[in-house]
Amino acid sequence: MSCQGNIMLELTGKTAIITGASRGIGKAIALKFADLGANIAFLHFNDGEKAAETTAELEAKGIKVKCYDCNVADFEASKKVIDEIIAEFGEVHILVNNAGIVRDALMLSMKEADFDAVINVNLKGTFNMTKNIYQHFMKKRRGRIINIASIVGINGNAGQSNYASAKAGIIGMTKSVAKELGSRNVTVNAIAPGFIRTDMTDAMPEKAREAALASIPMKRAGEAEDIANTAAFLASDLASYITGEVIKVDGGMAI
Ligand code: NAI
Repeated sequence: MSCQGNIMLELTGKTAIITGASRGIGKAIALKFADLGANIAFLHFNDGEKAAETTAELEAKGIKVKCYDCNVADFEASKKVIDEIIAEFGEVHILVNNAGIVRDALMLSMKEADFDAVINVNLKGTFNMTKNIYQHFMKKRRGRIINIASIVGINGNAGQSNYASAKAGIIGMTKSVAKELGSRNVTVNAIAPGFIRTDMTDAMPEKAREAALASIPMKRAGEAEDIANTAAFLASDLASYITGEVIKVDGGMAI
């Protein structure tokens, strides 16, 4: 727990839903939030072994944790899981829409199915989760929504027209919902990571990885914890007057 003036960077007594937290950035966010005292309900999709490891690591921190195998691209499944989480945890304070996939190809060779899959998980998944928690946050007159976008959604990237479209869409959704929910004391912000070391980037071809690293002014990949630190700030009372913002965490990659 750290302190700035009399406002603390802490999440004691809060409940956070984090999608895609069996590994990578979502897992780092879950661990950070748990360190700050939050109870965690996290989602993954068909990643049971890693989800069990993450659950054990979170439980060791002495907070309440439950994991749910749920495809965020499925509207009804998202609704069901949010209802279950509210029944289990009571009030939910924070939603982090982090689940995401890539299916990279130049437009010339991109299959329709690859476009649809990336839009459905990244963009529609963010809609599904946000739509289904919306009334809960409205009624409670407080809430935090943190969407994980990407600098690719700001600058575009050859070979990622599907992913860039989804992430740009998330930024538009973030700003729109921030305008809708501001008067209800609900903030909605996005984080735009650059190149972060996770399974997603480990799977990139060596050449593409080298090119990405060379384009970063800070000359190194980011860590999942760099994103988790920003998410913790946005979820905390320190950020209570920030909404509709997109924060790049990219070592200067998109300057
Ligand atoms: P990852 O591939 O390591 O983890 C993805 C997580 O999402 C896993 O927990 C997986 O189970 C979950 N997931 C995938 N499809 C799902 C679905 N249909 N329903 C529910 N959960 C699902 O990915 P990583 O790198 O941790 O990325 C997390 C987020 O950060 C993604 O939205 C990604 O687009 C974004 N991002 C990552 C960057 C990077 O450099 N790693 C850069 C910019 C953004």
